[in-house]
Amino acid sequence: MEGDGLARLPRHVAIIMDGNGRWAKQRELPRHAGHKAGVGSVRSSVEESVRHGVEVLTLFAFSSENWKRPQKEVSLLMDLFMVALQREVKRLKRNNVRLRIIGDRSAFSDKLQQRIAQAETDTDQCNGMLLQIAANYGGRWDITRATRRLAERVAAGGLHPDQIDESAIAAELSFAGLPDPDLFIRTGGEQRISNFILWQCAYTELYFTDTYWPDFDADAYSEALDFYAGRQRRFGMTGEQVEETGSTGRPG
Ligand code: IPE
Ligand code: IPE
Ligand code: MG
Repeated sequence: MEGDGLARLPRHVAIIMDGNGRWAKQRELPRHAGHKAGVGSVRSSVEESVRHGVEVLTLFAFSSENWKRPQKEVSLLMDLFMVALQREVKRLKRNNVRLRIIGDRSAFSDKLQQRIAQAETDTDQCNGMLLQIAANYGGRWDITRATRRLAERVAAGGLHPDQIDESAIAAELSFAGLPDPDLFIRTGGEQRISNFILWQCAYTELYFTDTYWPDFDADAYSEALDFYAGRQRRFGMTGEQVEETGSTGRPG
């Protein structure tokens, strides 16, 4: 029973996969070796999420600011993304995972855009977990785009400004229709959001670990889930109210 109002299992987990470069540096390897090693942790976090029964996993793979990195690193990251998309689809299908890429894909090469579309199509019949990869994503980009769309609808006469409420905004964001992330994980020791989920993190539980992303294995993930399971989510209510109703306080 949920009489203590504790959170239990997150429906939606969002992860900033950070620390690849430092992981490589520690081993006197080029930064790219860290990104490559990080693919293994992507695989394991997907499979562990499926095993635990998480409904949505969102992974931050490339931010709208990561273009500022040395051109060589950016281009190696794009190559890795291409290869991983192609290689991992089979495994995703086996796990009944539907893949969706969020972010401004128009900045990617035509070839990469095609590969993304293909990987999404290949898994669109899967009805288990949803895996969202945020690539060229930024929380501000998402909110800006949503605002522009709403403004266009107002300008076209299809929407009155009074109709713009929280749900109208949420419906225009990349995460439309999904539960907000319950658990946010950032590996690599930094304690910041780095323009990842902004609107959606209003009541997300935040978990930071010093573990570098390539070392983030099943046990490390379990620790994060244990942290979450012990949270009492109040959403503005009192702890007593949450305990009385036995609810996790989630609105709606
Ligand atoms: C995260 O690891 C991967 C991307 C941002 C693409 P980093 O590359 O940021 O690794 P650190 O933070 O330099 O160690
Ligand atoms: C955030 O990591 C982006 C991704 C993991 C994709 P960064 O390494 O880019 O973040 P900052 O620059 O340290 O904040
Ligand atoms: Mg980093």
